Order: sequence, then structure tokens, then C-alpha cells
Amino acid sequence: IDTYCVMGNPVAHSRSPWIHARFAELTGQTLHYERALVALDGFAAHVTDFAARGGKGCNVTVPFKLQAAGLATHASDRVRRAGAANTLVFCDDGIHADNTDGLGLVADIVRNAGVAIAGRDVLLLGAGGAAAGALGSLIEQQPRRIAVANRTHTKAQALVAQHADLASLHKTELLALEQQALESENTPTFDIIINATASSLAGAQVPAPAGVLRPGSLAYDMMYGPAAQPFLDWARLHGAQARDGLGMLVEQAAESFALWRGVRPPSQQVLAELRALIQ
Ligand code: ATR
Repeated sequence: IDTYCVMGNPVAHSRSPWIHARFAELTGQTLHYERALVALDGFAAHVTDFAARGGKGCNVTVPFKLQAAGLATHASDRVRRAGAANTLVFCDDGIHADNTDGLGLVADIVRNAGVAIAGRDVLLLGAGGAAAGALGSLIEQQPRRIAVANRTHTKAQALVAQHADLASLHKTELLALEQQALESENTPTFDIIINATASSLAGAQVPAPAGVLRPGSLAYDMMYGPAAQPFLDWARLHGAQARDGLGMLVEQAAESFALWRGVRPPSQQVLAELRALIQ
């Protein structure tokens, strides 16, 4: 039986085994998907071992996405730009790495939430791994403008520089915005605000002023559960449409599943089931 896993640390709360088992049931695929708690210094060895035992592929989560990109013999363009991978495929010619986080985010915003990104103004909060994984896919939707704002401005600048050619190819204005500019009197406003920071985990305030919101803006947090709540509350308080990252989780899994199995699972059904399960 073809075996897959999610490797992370921590990984106990990962919903990926449940999601992939459900995808397999609904598409009639026979596979086994397990959860692998990997020692912080043991990622490369674990990947080698899993592949040697016949593993076909894996998902990679915190804190190993950067290392996963480094292990690849074939890295997709998305992985090279983000410097991070969340999906590995073990093939005869080596390890193929991809990053489906951005595709998952875009699918959830455009298809599930019904909010177009093309031609719109987008604010991406954060410049860590989560933001890096999403930026390329956001640009490919051809928004009018994407501003990246981060507590550490130099990281936002570096992320923007990494994507400058892609943005010009898609005629998207891409810029790094300083926190001061967000707080200024002429605060720029946006149609879509995406929280890719870990600020709520740190118990900190939402890393943007409410002035960035337009009536009916979509405020999206890549996290779900209690970690997303402060941002969602903030958004609703100020009249925005709020959405957590549960759909992104299911959609990135669907993209991984399609890479491994060549079959597209019914992700919207599985998202509805998962939401019912955890609420
Ligand atoms: P991830 O892979 O989840 O993105 P990360 O690479 O550590 O994790 O990035 C965390 C992001 O959350 C960064 O953008 C970080 O800002 P810095 O680059 O300045 O560190 C942001 N972040 C974390 N804690 C924050 C806080 N209390 N306020 C604002 N931003 C915060």
C-alpha cells in the first residue's frame, strides 16, 4: 500500500491525516497516510529513511519547510522563490519538491469564498515562511497591487525583491510597505488583507490599523481555531468579511494529493465536513 505522511514538530494536532484519508475514500484511492513527529535535528535522516521504507511522498510542516526545499533534487519554481517546500514526492530520479500553500490560499479565496484577486489591492502581513509560500501564487492571480508589511521591514523588502520579476511579468505592482506608512494619515486601503504573521500566537495586537480595511474587504487569517480568533474579531468589528485558514489547509492538501495521485479530490465537501467536525 502506498504510504505518505506529514512530518513536523509539533505534529500531534495536524489535521492532514484525516483530510488525506477522506480524500482517499472519496476518490477510491488506496493509500495510507501517517503522522510523523520528527526530531528537530533529524529531518533529513527521517526523509531518507521514509523513502527507503517505500514512502511515496510527504507533507512538511513547521519547522522543516526550509530544509525540505534544500533536500530537493528537483524544486518547482514556487519552491525556489519561496525557499520553502510543503510537499515532497519520492520518484525514481530523486526528490521532487513543491509548495502548494499558495495555491491552497488562492483556491480558498477565489473558489470557496468567491472573492476575486485579479485587479484588486492586496495587503500581505508578514514576511516569514507562511508569507513567502503564498506570495508567488497571489501574484499569479494578477492583482493590481500587493503590499507586503512586516514588523522587520528588511524581511519584507527581501521577499519583494525575490518576486520582483514575477510581479512585473504579471503586471502587478509589488512593494514593501513600512509600518509607519500603514499608520500614517493617508493609510492606503485594501480589498484583501491576509494575515501571515504569528502575532496572535504571541498574544500581540493585530499588526495593522483598521484604516487599511475598506467596507466589505476580505480579511483572511492563514491560521484557524483559537489562533485566528483575534484577527477575525478585529476584522468583523470593523465591517470586513472575515475568513480563517481552514479552507487553505484543505486546499493545499488537495493540491498535494493531486500531485501524488493524479486525481483531484472533492475539497469543498471535505472542507464542509472538517468544519462541522471541529466546531
Ligand atoms: P511562519 O513560517 O509561520 O511564517 P516565521 O517565518 O517565524 O513563521 O514568520 C513569522 C512572521 O510573523 C514574521 O513575519 C514575523 O515578523 P518578523 O519578521 O518581524 O519576526 C511575524 N510576527 C511574529 N510575531 C509577531 C508580533 N508579535 N507582531 C508582529 N509580527 C509578528
